Amino acid sequence: MEPTPYRTEPVSFTRRGGRLTERQQAAWDALAQTYVLEVPRHGPSTSVDPSYVLDTAQVFGRSAPLVVEIGSGRGEAVVQAAVDHPELDFLGLEVYVPGVAQTLVTMRHVGVTNVRLMVVNAAEALTTMLAPGSVHELRIFFPDPWHKKRHHKRRLVTPEFARLAARVLEPGGLWRLATDWEDYAEQIRDVVTESPDFDGGEWGPRFEGRPQTRFEGKGLGVGRTIRDVTGVRRPT
Ligand SMILES: C[S@@+](CC[C@H](N)C(=O)[O-])C[C@H]1O[C@@H](n2cnc3c(N)ncnc32)[C@H](O)[C@@H]1O
Repeated sequence: MEPTPYRTEPVSFTRRGGRLTERQQAAWDALAQTYVLEVPRHGPSTSVDPSYVLDTAQVFGRSAPLVVEIGSGRGEAVVQAAVDHPELDFLGLEVYVPGVAQTLVTMRHVGVTNVRLMVVNAAEALTTMLAPGSVHELRIFFPDPWHKKRHHKRRLVTPEFARLAARVLEPGGLWRLATDWEDYAEQIRDVVTESPDFDGGEWGPRFEGRPQTRFEGKGLGVGRTIRDVTGVRRPT
């Protein structure tokens, strides 16, 4: 028997449990089968079998530009964007199941159908699951800051991760990021500006398509400055 694969790299998240509320459970029961995509696993429950490639035309039932949000949390941004842009398809990648369930609650409330969600480690999804050049826009809003220095190695946005972002983005495709943690903002700016695969990357104006999430509200509440960064995928 093949040994169960295990992770050798630190991951950018800790698996949080948490029960679903009654509303979340009801939304999950009604919608998960259609909107939360099952993927073949490869060891941990947030892993993706490396031989699996997502067929977006099949899962959305049409061919439209794909916007991927990593760490979609409670879904505030991805659902609002899907309402504002019915012509685009949205994929939220999130490891926190109650967040995914809350996203379904909001989707049900507003009635959007152009969103799909997956409980996966985004780093694996970008390495193998998403086809090269298949993503129109990649969004990471408020990645876990991992404040302590000894935890910085867990941060998602690194030069290695920039190569994965470049792998999946189409030429001219946008990589949008935001954070409220100053030294992570500096790291993100450096990662994007120093990447050979992206133009841009300096701190810029707030992306108007990014609604204020509960997480951002907490940062603003304690006086943090929000930094937005956009990288443009260079043609290969
Ligand atoms: C600080 S929260 C921000 C959530 C949301 N973007 C917002 O603005 O409210 C970061 C989220 O990223 C998720 N996350 C962290 N690493 C991830 C990974 N490798 N793949 C998928 N989700 C991840 C966490 O579970 C968490 O929900």
